[in-house]
Amino acid sequence: MEPCIFERIGHRALRERIVTAETAASWINDGMTLGLSGFTRAGDAKAVPTALIERAKQQPLKVDVYTGASLGSDIDKLMAEAGIIHKRLPFQADATMRRKINERELLFIDQHLSHTAELVRSDALKPIDYAIVEAVSITEDGLIIPTTSVGNSSIFVEKARQVIIELNMAQPKALYGFHDIYEVGKQGERSPIPLTKVDDRIGMIGIPVDIDKIAGIVITNQMDSPSTIAPPDEETSAIANHLIDFLRKEVAAGRLTERLAPIQAGIGSVANAVLYGLLDSEFYDLEVYSEVLQDSMFDLIDAGKVRFASGCSMTLSESKMKQVYTNLDAYRGKLILRPQEISNHPEIIRRLGLISINTALEADIYGNVNSTHVRGTHMMNGIGGSGDFARHARLTIFVTKSSAEHGAISSIVPFVSHVDHTEHDVDVIITEYGYADLRGLAPVERAPLIIEHCAHPDYRPQLRDYFAEALDRGGHTPHVLEKALLWHIRYEQHGTMREEKYELQRQ
Ligand code: COA
Repeated sequence: MEPCIFERIGHRALRERIVTAETAASWINDGMTLGLSGFTRAGDAKAVPTALIERAKQQPLKVDVYTGASLGSDIDKLMAEAGIIHKRLPFQADATMRRKINERELLFIDQHLSHTAELVRSDALKPIDYAIVEAVSITEDGLIIPTTSVGNSSIFVEKARQVIIELNMAQPKALYGFHDIYEVGKQGERSPIPLTKVDDRIGMIGIPVDIDKIAGIVITNQMDSPSTIAPPDEETSAIANHLIDFLRKEVAAGRLTERLAPIQAGIGSVANAVLYGLLDSEFYDLEVYSEVLQDSMFDLIDAGKVRFASGCSMTLSESKMKQVYTNLDAYRGKLILRPQEISNHPEIIRRLGLISINTALEADIYGNVNSTHVRGTHMMNGIGGSGDFARHARLTIFVTKSSAEHGAISSIVPFVSHVDHTEHDVDVIITEYGYADLRGLAPVERAPLIIEHCAHPDYRPQLRDYFAEALDRGGHTPHVLEKALLWHIRYEQHGTMREEKYELQRQ
């Protein structure tokens, strides 16, 4: 064994268990359930799933796959193409897998990301046969040190019948010390989670494992796949400016200080761009209690804007990855990675009083938000952690561009075609045109604010007329039910949500 491998396997007995990815994949049988490490492309098991996909070309099989969130290295794409997935949970973000889900070639459970661990722990899901987790090293006392994400790896390792470790030599050894693994215990028997500040360490440095359960260690040498988010554009920068205006008003009203409150920001291009907006703001000494730490977070740390960031994965672009990985020590003491159950835990979100910023596909005139289903039926990615945060945060903010598909779709509609976040959970909606602060407002007060401040100007007359007609019908939350989803139907039939008469007025 090469000395560098030797160095990374502290526990002596485990040095005998090195196998190839093909051997490990050969242990997986049709009908089994796998718990894979990986969260938004970071820290995913890479070699064994790839070997399994290859093997399935000769010996077709289907497995259930549980993960932290989306995988990188095209694993979701390749698994979907190979047809080896029977059921997948709790999140994905791959175009091919999305298509197969929507064609119902594979089953998908779109789950709050903090819920998976509870369901696994309580044996409510099909048991996991193999946990396959990526590690940077294994300590002398047998702790698995994860790589760039923790995700659901600790609960998978605890509950799986057997464990396969992918020891990834390409992941920097310096990641040792960045993780904090805390096990909450069974429901009904647990104590409060002792985390009262974003930088509290409450657990162990790695994932404890019953050594007898480790079936094999596969040596790999492959970086995470870089994130693919688009850089900020004019619209996302405008959204960021409105967010900052809103936060300034909160400071002026004495509800926040210039240190704000711990921030959570969701996945995707919009959320990443919005965080960049904080770089040039007056806010300082910021704290982050989030899920995915994207490029913007590291720039905020570098600029001294963010004092400490807690997350459950680091998902970076190629250039940022190079910069961060060669300089990890600069982030020691400023960053921590926790299991997603802890990063997204309602108890902690409520206790810390987070400012939560996530992205909507569409919002309606009363404040309900759809983050997952295109036109109510077709899965985009999944709810991810947005629901964990939305229900419990101090301030629940949803951002979206006011229109999509070059203006053919209004992101503000009379009635969302699928509800992920109800009007009861949503405090503020922001688009590039402005923000609507919905706190303390009844439904009929909210609608005009959302229409006038957030909707695209081209759609405002159409929305105003819908709301006026709805008011005539009466009710606490007035609707013209037979027209409520007509916007989506019109798009399907005519390729635009615009009604012809408004289109003519516009010209
Ligand atoms: N109807 C149909 N499609 C829409 C739409 C709407 N109302 N609004 C946006 N879209 C499309 C865009 O056109 C774009 O399509 P493309 O990929 O073909 O170009 C796609 O949705 C993504 O939109 P974009 O504006 O680029 O936003 P994004 O990259 O920030 O992603 C979400 C937005 C909602 C898809 C993404 O944030 C998500 O999956 N959220 C749910 C999970 C979550 O919030 N997790 C964080 C918790 S911590």
